[in-house]
Amino acid sequence: MTKYIINGGKPLNGEIVVSGAKNAAVAIIPAALMVDGVCRIENIPQISDVTMLLNILKQMGAEIRTVNRHTMDIDCTGVTMSEATFDMMRRIRASYYLLGALLGRFGTAKVAMPGGCNFGGVRPIDQHVKGFTAMGASMDVRNGIVFAETAGRLEGASIYLDVVSVGATINIMLGATLSIGRTVIENAAREPHIVDLANFLNSMGADIRGAGTNVIKINGVNKLTGGFYSIIPDQIEAGTYMAAVAGTGGEVTIKNVIPKHMECISGKLREMGVEVEDLEDAVIVRRNGPLLKTNVKTMPYPGFPTDMQPQISTLLCCAEGTSIVTEGVWDNRFKYVDELAKMGCQIQVSGRTAVIEGVDSLTGAPVKAGDLRAGAALVIAGLTASGTTEIEGVSYIERGYENIVEKLRALGADISAVVVPDDPEIAELEAG
Ligand code: EPU
Repeated sequence: MTKYIINGGKPLNGEIVVSGAKNAAVAIIPAALMVDGVCRIENIPQISDVTMLLNILKQMGAEIRTVNRHTMDIDCTGVTMSEATFDMMRRIRASYYLLGALLGRFGTAKVAMPGGCNFGGVRPIDQHVKGFTAMGASMDVRNGIVFAETAGRLEGASIYLDVVSVGATINIMLGATLSIGRTVIENAAREPHIVDLANFLNSMGADIRGAGTNVIKINGVNKLTGGFYSIIPDQIEAGTYMAAVAGTGGEVTIKNVIPKHMECISGKLREMGVEVEDLEDAVIVRRNGPLLKTNVKTMPYPGFPTDMQPQISTLLCCAEGTSIVTEGVWDNRFKYVDELAKMGCQIQVSGRTAVIEGVDSLTGAPVKAGDLRAGAALVIAGLTASGTTEIEGVSYIERGYENIVEKLRALGADISAVVVPDDPEIAELEAG
């Protein structure tokens, strides 16, 4: 087991480069399944969710060549199986994008139900099922496996999403790309990674318009052919480092970002007394004065992202006064507050609302990450706190943050990853 050990209280200074967007990569890699020929994909983040997806594709018969650290050639021409029911599938949420991609390519798919971060609530896929059913697929979920079948190919349909769902928007877009006729998705999600997936598919020959608005129109095509694509920078990784600097103080230039994508986060940080300067493809974040209270409500893009909620809540624990954070996307995304309480945070949760009383300072403690963004929040808390913080459960963090330890160390943080026996007591007994 790996733990992060952080000796906090040191300001961050310097430059950091943001990696490719996780949530774009986990949609674009399955999309390569529908392409005849080689896709050269650049700016792929080196994180465990991506490694798992690439392994799934390999198991299905894809040829994958590493060009350099962040560039891969993916050739799925030889893939003949429409099933992805491996154990590995259960561990990542984005495995469900294989459903849309396989249905698009083969007209049939058998895919294990998604795993991924568990915030404690249910993560339904009814809107995905509704979309594929409208497009003529018969859908069935048995023993944790989704079975989807058409007579030949999916057929275009008009689909109104009852909830704004990133996953359903992406999955329907994938299925519709190689379908017969026109699909219209209304009440579609508008996140930057949805636009990125549409751009990827269009560059391979798809006909998708309106991505980035709440109505997406897809004219099915017969074939996609290989090409070159570079994934956008990760909005949430960038936001997490912005929050870290806001917490510790100091000045950091965060490079390889699209400042437009950061507006929802930059705006909140400015309200909290943090300086954020936009450059062409970077932001400079500095904080010298105190953090100020504010209220935050998470919403689908362009609202404040739910995937930044634990990180901003952690910052608000160190702000002057009382702040209110409302979670507008997920039912249960405040489980991490018990861990923050061990470090002196004062947060009262009722349903989807957290009332946060700012405290003068946080103190280091042993804590455990329960999901990816909760883990990122604990790293921020550890960097901000006085004393030593030990974080367990870092495999969650490494699902979505490339080289987080090295990146933070380069900014002057005292953080290290140490490997410890899984259960020290048992190891001690065995040794003695
Ligand atoms: N929902 C339904 N029915 C569905 C699908 C979703 O009711 O069929 C509900 C969910 O329960 C939730 C809301 O709709 O309340 C939004 O869910 P969405 O489908 O948008 O989430 P997702 O696609 O499963 C992606 C990201 C999450 C991020 C959400 C919201 C990926 C792989 N995951 O999940 O990212 O929180 O969108 O922005 O893209 C993360 O990166 O840490 C992460 C959890």
